[in-house]
This record gives sequence, structure tokens and C-alpha cells, in this order.
Amino acid sequence: SELTRLREFLNELIPSEDQLVRLYQNFCAQIRKGLGSKTNKDASTKCYLTYVQDFPTGNETGKYLALDLGGSKFRVLLIHLKGDSEAEQITKIYDLTERELHSTGVELFDYIAKCLHEFVCEQKVDNEHMPLGFTFSFPCVQTGLSRATLVRWTKGFNCSDTVGEDIGLMLKAAIARRPGLRIDMVAILNDTTGTQMSCAHRNPSCHIGLIVGTGCNACYTEKVENCERLDSKYKDKPKIIINVEWGAFGEKGGVDHLFTDYDRNVDQNSINRGSQIFEKMVSGMYMGELVRLILLRAVNENLVFAQCKLRKHITDILTKKPHCIETKVLSDIANDRGDDWPLVKDVFKQVFNLNNADPDDCMKFKFICDVVVKRSGNMIGVTLSGLVNKVGESFSVIGVDGTVYRCHPNFDGYMRETLDRFVDKDYKYDMMLSEDGSGRGAALVAAVVHRDYMERK
Ligand code: BG6
Ligand code: GLC
Repeated sequence: SELTRLREFLNELIPSEDQLVRLYQNFCAQIRKGLGSKTNKDASTKCYLTYVQDFPTGNETGKYLALDLGGSKFRVLLIHLKGDSEAEQITKIYDLTERELHSTGVELFDYIAKCLHEFVCEQKVDNEHMPLGFTFSFPCVQTGLSRATLVRWTKGFNCSDTVGEDIGLMLKAAIARRPGLRIDMVAILNDTTGTQMSCAHRNPSCHIGLIVGTGCNACYTEKVENCERLDSKYKDKPKIIINVEWGAFGEKGGVDHLFTDYDRNVDQNSINRGSQIFEKMVSGMYMGELVRLILLRAVNENLVFAQCKLRKHITDILTKKPHCIETKVLSDIANDRGDDWPLVKDVFKQVFNLNNADPDDCMKFKFICDVVVKRSGNMIGVTLSGLVNKVGESFSVIGVDGTVYRCHPNFDGYMRETLDRFVDKDYKYDMMLSEDGSGRGAALVAAVVHRDYMERK
């Protein structure tokens, strides 16, 4: 039947057990390389040192500012840590347009400082000279908690005169250019680290932070003796968080055996060709695009919309309008079922101006979306297993955030399918949704720095 033909057609997007085993092995090999000092240059997963070595006790107190840049929203936050693992926060979302994403670094940071200035005035804390934690969700080489050199932009960002620069200094300079704005930027961290810290504040067993959103990445707690690149003066403390930057996995061939023409197409049409290969197979910025490309080929091969009057028009739209299927759609329709398909029909109406779609076509569309999301969840479950096994604790909580994980009803389940297969039987794991983003994590890191600073004073 047609459905069987569609299944066969999609088969290359359904990883076999063997392919997943290879994925696991390749990933673990890259992590080992990333951690080593001689092998790091050959690793796709760079395993950046974050210098976060103190974990929340729950007793942290005080008021902190935080910036959260790099996800689908740019946020400024005021966080009040109250002890007893309690916190209150006020968040404001500011627009980030294509203009800021592709401006110069100075323009970007001037804009950030302007938002920050507006925010502290509105909150009437402009005279308090507060410590600030900066969640900056891009790969950076750090030499300390507040020193971070940008290695590359990822996702949709591409500002000039920034790669190789110290992001902390750029922010500080922008703050200094605004008369009346006094803020003490004390820590820069990745969103994965923010998420892990935020969850560890509630549950000390949180050893891993995961983001499945616009981009995809994870971090985990490593023993200092396993970190060859860490200077010995940091080895008094037993542990350190490693930002894996696994979005770049695949740049050395680690996912070649799962890579399809659709993936190649997504990569070729991106602003960062050849980079962030794993990320392009699994994250929110690209999954809608994968569905568009798959659907286009399926229509051309008469597997979907074969009898539809608008077939030609649908092909035109799919061909000429990249990004016409948003990743949000994959989550929105995930719970559509029955003969009616109201949610899929809504999407068809929006995207193709198609009314009264055939129920079979609705079912097939949902099937395509599911295959893409399931591949993502299954692959991430495999790489996560690598980290759970590397952490090697009898119980590990994985702190998770990001729109894909939050919004897709089956994503958690798809990850668990492979986690259950690949996590060592001696280790137990659980997933925990980060309740309020990485802002609280940024405040917690700032709190540690601030405490050290106050004690030294
Ligand atoms: C948020 C975090 O909750 O999740 C951000 O606070 C992070 O720091 C984001 O970047 C990732 O999700 P998305 O889907 O917005 O990219
Ligand atoms: C991209 C970034 C990474 C971030 C992830 C999730 O992969 O390079 O730093 O953690 O997106 O936002």
C-alpha cells in the first residue's frame, strides 16, 4: 500500500540498533579526545572548561542580575535568592531582530546594555551596583569564570568583530559607554551550565545539563583528574562542569552513517556550512526544515498529496519557501489523531492555503513529523547515555530546558527509549525540567563568585 511505500521511503531516517551503537561509540571517542590536551584539537566535541566548580548548597542569598542571550528569546532578569533553595525572579523579554543578529559586536553589546539599563531603571535597582551573571549560549574558551573568548557563532547569530574577542570585556565596555549604568559582570556561562546549576539548586543529584531548543548541547560534572587541560591551581576542588558543545559532533564524521541527503541540504542552506552537524540533525532551528525537504520529495514521488488538486501549488510553496514549516508545528500536531485531524488541517491551511485535506495525507504528514522528532530524541538519548555513564554516579538527574523538550509531548519519551538501552545497568537516571530557564543558574554562579569576593575583602 501507499503507507508501506512511505515507510520504506522514510527508512533511512529511522536509525537501526547497529547505527545507534556506532553513534554511541563515536560520541564516547570524541569526548575522550575532547578532554585530552594533545587530542583536543582533533575532537569535534571540544569539552570546554567552564570553571564552575562549586555547586549550589541551597543556602545562597542575595539579589543578582542576569542576562540570557542565545536561545529563541533574549531575557534580562532580576533574581532574589532566598536560601532554602528558594528564589524569586522577575524576567523581561526584549526583541532581538535579524538586525541585531547580524550586526557588529559593538552594536549587539550596545543594544544589550541599553536593555539592561532600561530594566534596572524600571525595577528601581539602578543605584545598587549589583553582580550580574551572563548566560551566553555559544562556544567559548574560558580561562576563568568571567573570561570567555568566543570561538564561533552558532544557530542564527553572526555578528562581525566578535570571534576571538573576550565577550566579558565587550559587555563591560558597552556598560561603561552608558553613563549612569553601574553593574558588575562576575560570571559568563553557557545555557547548559545555567540549566544544570538551576536544577542542582533543587536537586543535588543533577550532574548533567541539557538544552534541546533552537540549538542542542549538554554539559556535565567531571572529576578534575580527568581534565588534562585544567591548570593544577584549579585542582584543589574535586569537580568541574564541562561544556561538551556536542552540537559540533559530526564535524569529524561521527554521524556520517546517519546523515541523509536532507541533512546535507539543511547544512548546505545554512549560514555555517560544515559546522554544528549533530545540532542540525536534532535541534529546533532545523527540524521544521527537514520536514519541509522530506515532504517535498515525498510529494514529488507521489507518496503524499498524490490525489490533491493543489498538488502543483503545494510543490511550489515547498520548493520556494524555505522555513515554511516551523519546528513548532511538529509539537503542535503531535497529539492530533482520529479521522478529523483538526490540527494538521490547520497547518495545511496556514502553509498551503489548503482546505479539506484528505485524512490519509494528514496521517502521512504527521508520520513524517514523528520520524524526524523521534530520530532527534533517540539520537540525543544515545549521546546523553554517554554522559550518564561518564559521570558514573549511581543516580544522575539530567536538568533539561529548551522549546523542543518543553513543547513536544513525546520528546522525553523518545530520549528515554535509547537512554534505557544505553545507560549502564548500574546507573539510574531521571530527567528534570528546569523551571525557570538558566537565569537562576546564572545568579547561583554569580553568588559563589560574589561570596568569594566578599570573604576576601
Ligand atoms: C531557556 C534558557 O530556558 O532555554 C536559555 O534560559 C536557553 O538560556 C533556552 O538558551 C534554550 O531554548 P530555546 O528553545 O529558546 O533555544
Ligand atoms: C548551540 C551553542 C551552545 C548552546 C546550544 C543550546 O549549540 O553553540 O553553546 O548551549 O546551542 O542553546
